[in-house]
Amino acid sequence: MKPKSTATPSPVAIIVHGGAGAIHPDYHQIAQEGCVQAAQAGWRMLVAGGSALDAVEAAVCDMEDNQAFNAGTGSVLTNAGQVEMDAGIMDGESQAIGAVGLIRHFAHPISLARAVMADTGHYFLAGEGAEDFARARGFTEISSQDLISERRRKQYEERASQKAGEQDTVGALALDAGGNLAAANSTGGVAFKLPGRVGDSPIPGAGFYADNRFGAVVTTGQGEHIMQAGLAFLVMQALERGASSRQAAEQAAASFARRIPGGQAGLVVLDTAGRVGLAHTTAFMSHAYLAPGMDEMVSGIRFR
Ligand code: GLY
Repeated sequence: MKPKSTATPSPVAIIVHGGAGAIHPDYHQIAQEGCVQAAQAGWRMLVAGGSALDAVEAAVCDMEDNQAFNAGTGSVLTNAGQVEMDAGIMDGESQAIGAVGLIRHFAHPISLARAVMADTGHYFLAGEGAEDFARARGFTEISSQDLISERRRKQYEERASQKAGEQDTVGALALDAGGNLAAANSTGGVAFKLPGRVGDSPIPGAGFYADNRFGAVVTTGQGEHIMQAGLAFLVMQALERGASSRQAAEQAAASFARRIPGGQAGLVVLDTAGRVGLAHTTAFMSHAYLAPGMDEMVSGIRFR
């Protein structure tokens, strides 16, 4: 349950979050455990010599398979009762980006995003074009109904997730043994969104960013607020000014709150030395991380 950082002498690091917002108390422990499991999946990649991109993809895939989170098979539903997912990934070394939007028939949007980055010459595919690309690349297609969990179906019928204001986008950051950073995000978006709505999660500078010179960030919360503030880029600017990961997280969250009064967001940051920062304006944020100098993984639900 608690891997030791002494398993590897390399300064590798992983941090994941399971979303910010009004996490129902029934889901606090489940969300924390899900974050630990996802961070372990990423950590295993890192200690086996995998890249930061491998680690963040593995961590986010794990959360896309966990119905506790608003991503993959746990995604909230649109006002038409369907799942439409977005995801984004970024390589801090090349600053290449891969993103997908409006995915309805594939369980791992983050892997599609990575394939877009690797194989298309583009950065962002959405809708039918993105799904045609996934089919052509041999990703396994599933029925859109198989992406709808019982919990989300019930919430939809009761309009419960809309009232709860859940914003459980998942995200991961990693630093690999080569000093490379990567960021990855995946989400079902916001409950009862209009079909066709895309949030911040696949938008670089809003939902995520990674640059080996400074650090990496993923954000979570209300996409409209996050896009308006350019939240991920606020963090990158703070890092570039010389802020620590913790200072950058706090400065960006404060700037966000000034720009968007009442705005709902959370973020996690990893710098070039593997130091972490976390901040949120929402009531809760679930997370787990293991960084240089730590003996055990830290996990929990942060309260404000
Ligand atoms: N942050 C997720 C969304 O608003 O789509």
